[in-house]
Amino acid sequence: MKYIDAIDYKVEVGGLPQSSFSDYLAQYDKSNKVILVDENTHEHCLSYLITTFEELAQAEVILLPEGEDNKQLEIAFGVWEALTEYRIGRHDLIINLGGGVITDMGGFIASCYKRGVDFINIPTSLLAMVDASIGGKTGVNLGAFKNQIGVFSNPKAVYVDTSFLSTLPELEVLSGIAEMLKHGLISDADLFSRVAEQINNVKSIDSDLLFACIEVKNRVVVQDPLESGVRKTLNFGHTIGHVIEGHYMNTLKLSHGHSIAIGMLLEAFLSVELASLSQEEYLAIHHVITAVYEIPLFTPADIMAMVDMLDNDKKNKGGKILSCLIPKIGKCTFDIEVNKDLFTRAFKAFQS
Ligand code: GLY
Repeated sequence: MKYIDAIDYKVEVGGLPQSSFSDYLAQYDKSNKVILVDENTHEHCLSYLITTFEELAQAEVILLPEGEDNKQLEIAFGVWEALTEYRIGRHDLIINLGGGVITDMGGFIASCYKRGVDFINIPTSLLAMVDASIGGKTGVNLGAFKNQIGVFSNPKAVYVDTSFLSTLPELEVLSGIAEMLKHGLISDADLFSRVAEQINNVKSIDSDLLFACIEVKNRVVVQDPLESGVRKTLNFGHTIGHVIEGHYMNTLKLSHGHSIAIGMLLEAFLSVELASLSQEEYLAIHHVITAVYEIPLFTPADIMAMVDMLDNDKKNKGGKILSCLIPKIGKCTFDIEVNKDLFTRAFKAFQS
């Protein structure tokens, strides 16, 4: 097992049976336990959890519909009703067993229910392991606007069991790898190269690499939990990536990581102009991303709609769109004003 100290909780990486999970559950011996799952984790992960830990034999299981388009307040509302029906109280425990949709939405549901009940995250997707389950960002989308409604609220613990990775389809692994590439791009050129190599071997994720990415994420979050400064760098690729993901949510249904990969490419394009990223490094990023993440055919109407959505980015201030850019691979700056004409130009550069 490997351990990381997060803000006021621990992230344990390795197998759940070897972790402190069972000891942790002992604190909730007399409490109700609720496991939130989606259709995928219900099928592939739940029985492993409840047969390995007899403490969970009586847990209530709440099944949520899978997918980013279901990360909506209406679904959270249904869960709050179910928790009420099960008489779940403030001293009970919610266990989020799933990918980023479940950890984001489950954290939000737990944090608002009766003004907050304890929750822990057991991420089952690569993306949730290296990013979503850590750092206390919880929330739901509002239509196409990503994570528009939410709160910062930390889990009591995060247990990363890498055996769940074997349940993932390749597209899901690639979604997680995009966030790992981001961790390299913003903080460590060598890490970026190592993750880029991992793209050729999605069937077997290097656990040291996974751990290194979790460390990057955690290090940034610990410095700036509420994103008033350096945590904004974790949003590299997300200003554009979020509007891509939202715009195509009900049509192409691009995964979060796929959208962010395209967002990173376009923001790297902007970085050449606005942050002196060298052409050579830009081409290296272009090569890695375009080899696996297909770029949709942006029509003029798509571009106009997505650029319009940028007005609602959470990082905006004083009516300005503020983005993260990379002056070089391994370094990220934030709060850089980028006007809509430049964003339009970036989308148009990838039109064909
Ligand atoms: N996923 C970006 C962050 O947690 O800050």
